[in-house]
Amino acid sequence: MSYRRFSDCSVSERLLYTLFIGLLSTGYAFAMVLIFISVAPEDGKPSISAADISLKYYGNRSGTRLEQALTGTMKPNRTHEEYLVMAKWIHDSSPEARYTTEVKPILDEKCIFCHNQHSGMPIPDLTTYENVKSLVKIDTGESMGSLVRVSHIHMFGLGMVFYLLGRIFVLTEIPVLLKRVVVVTPFAAIALDIGSWWFTKFSPHFFAWTVLLSGAAMGFSFAFQAGVSVYQMWICKNQRERRREYGSGEYTRRGEG
Ligand code: HEC
Repeated sequence: MSYRRFSDCSVSERLLYTLFIGLLSTGYAFAMVLIFISVAPEDGKPSISAADISLKYYGNRSGTRLEQALTGTMKPNRTHEEYLVMAKWIHDSSPEARYTTEVKPILDEKCIFCHNQHSGMPIPDLTTYENVKSLVKIDTGESMGSLVRVSHIHMFGLGMVFYLLGRIFVLTEIPVLLKRVVVVTPFAAIALDIGSWWFTKFSPHFFAWTVLLSGAAMGFSFAFQAGVSVYQMWICKNQRERRREYGSGEYTRRGEG
């Protein structure tokens, strides 16, 4: 039997495929922008690295945001004694009574004139116990709930994208083994990608790079499928069409499946 190839498709069918691929590629570009906005700044540097991924999914468990600020950028705003009082309060699981007697006076004196809700700056408001309390939680990264949500959206969304793109791509004429590998790659990458988000949650450094690797594999596979499809639809005359044109007789089976 003979399989369908692009040379068997009408112009309107090819137009449909091409526009669909164009739309998907644009969507892919937006997804990349989103990643750069949401993941890349995690470690304070503009590029995407394993550190960003580990911070996003595993969090930073070596200290709370308040402590990090007190030993980091906010260091000039407090004395060493004030730091010790606040650090002790944080480590004693930040009770409200001692907040009022020990911590609030320091904040009121040293921090509030910047850290209030009228400051107009995107910095935490330190005028209430609830707000301060929210800065002394250990940062454990992405929550289970949001991982579940993002996982199922990605599985449905990417599954649909790569199924439909793959349906188009199988109409190309390339060596059959290459075709099979390219069709399977994104699905393997999705499994590795989403799997490693979860693993990264439990072990920060080992799995973070697999997220990067699978993201790259998915990107290459997408670009390859989209590129070769459009190229063979419009630019390159493929084998079968050439044979048909030069009248070399019967089709021979080539590049099945
Ligand atoms: C002169 C104004 C000013 C004062 C005073 C000040 N801060 Fe800040 N604070 C900032 C600004 C601006 C930022 C955001 C930029 C940064 O993190 O350096 C910030 C950020 C923070 C953050 C958030 C860090 C994060 O994780 O995003 C915390 C927590 C904080 N400050 C605590 C304090 C405490 C506690 C004090 C008092 C000891 C204090 N700040 C005094 C201006 C101030």
